Amino acid sequence: MRAHRIAVVAGDGIGREVMPEGLRALEAAGRRFGFEIAATDFDWSCETYAATGRMMPEDGLEQLRPHDAILLGAVGFPGVPDHISLWGLLLPIRRAFDQYVNLRPVRLLAGVNSPLRDVAPGDIDMWIVRENSEGEYSQVGGRMFEGTPDEVVTQVATFTRRGTDRIITYAFDLARRLGRGRVSSATKSNGLWHSMPFWDARFAEIASRYPEIEHDQHHIDIMAARMVMQPRRFDVIVASNLFGDILSDLGPGVTGTIALAPSANINPERAHPSMFEPVHGSAPDIAGRGIANPIGQIWSAAMMLDHLGEGAAAQAMLAAIEGVLADPAEPRTPDLGGRATTQDLGRAIADRI
Ligand code: NAD
Ligand code: IPM
Ligand code: MN
Repeated sequence: MRAHRIAVVAGDGIGREVMPEGLRALEAAGRRFGFEIAATDFDWSCETYAATGRMMPEDGLEQLRPHDAILLGAVGFPGVPDHISLWGLLLPIRRAFDQYVNLRPVRLLAGVNSPLRDVAPGDIDMWIVRENSEGEYSQVGGRMFEGTPDEVVTQVATFTRRGTDRIITYAFDLARRLGRGRVSSATKSNGLWHSMPFWDARFAEIASRYPEIEHDQHHIDIMAARMVMQPRRFDVIVASNLFGDILSDLGPGVTGTIALAPSANINPERAHPSMFEPVHGSAPDIAGRGIANPIGQIWSAAMMLDHLGEGAAAQAMLAAIEGVLADPAEPRTPDLGGRATTQDLGRAIADRI
């Protein structure tokens, strides 16, 4: 039987509650489609940090490397400053394995209420392609005159030509592959002098190589408004690390709940393992109550299967998610307006698979 070696990092908070449902769905898919999930657990979290002073062991990345993929829950919890926990675990994985594409589908599914008026399932259906390896996310910068009224803090954003070109090219290739008509780029070239005009110029040049695909450029501020007011106009959106982060919470916001949103941190060259995780975080406000919605985790696991060449199983998982959401008789967690538990919803999806 085919086996996929998966490194499982459940992490913090609800990461530990939704991960078992992701694995349950994967096992159900494996039984139906004839593969095995060989999962290895890595118990790394803010508790590890409290006990050892590190989020993961010194050779943590080397422990992850031999796997076919990494499935992650969420990282970060009150008690450890977020920049310490995230730069200690999640962000180093994205960088070490050159997962420079963060792919985040945003879809309004039947049975989920959008806060927008006059939108029907299928009306909102876009792919956010977020640059995931450079840009605004950096540890470069400094602090001077600390604690004085003259204190100065700088934070350096780096945009390389290689990094910018490869993410924009990925977005156009994705549009071509999926038969999508348009790629929209989010920048802020009226306010940021160096980086964003550079991005716009690279976007225009790369777009010219894809004459059959329309392209447009939006300043990030008005794009945020348009995603709410005219969400149908977007097909594929390409954005820098920070702008892509913000848009990929805004998208799930307009499609009903952040808890559904999946993401894939991809190394397209397959030189390193890719990582799959929900868009949401550890949700400290509901952690420990068993009421987190596991769909973002399950959908991320489906994206992982697709990446591993199990396209039919991935489709079956997504169909099970859609089937459960569309059926009012099926369980719903509180974020979807119901009273079900994480396990109730996870089991209902696994049963359909
Ligand atoms: P969050 O996504 O954890 O929570 C935001 C809100 O959405 C909360 O009200 C939460 O209850 C709700 N929510 C999130 N996921 C849900 C789910 N599956 N079911 C039901 N409700 C859900 O964002 P935050 O509060 O900004 O961050 C909390 C912690 O998580 C921080 O430490 C942050 O750094 C971290 N974080 C980690 C990741 C990641 O690991 N990829 C992503 C985002 C935030
Ligand atoms: C996400 C998260 C992370 C990010 C944080 C936790 C560093 O918000 O995956 O969207 O900004 O990339
Ligand atoms: Mn985010």
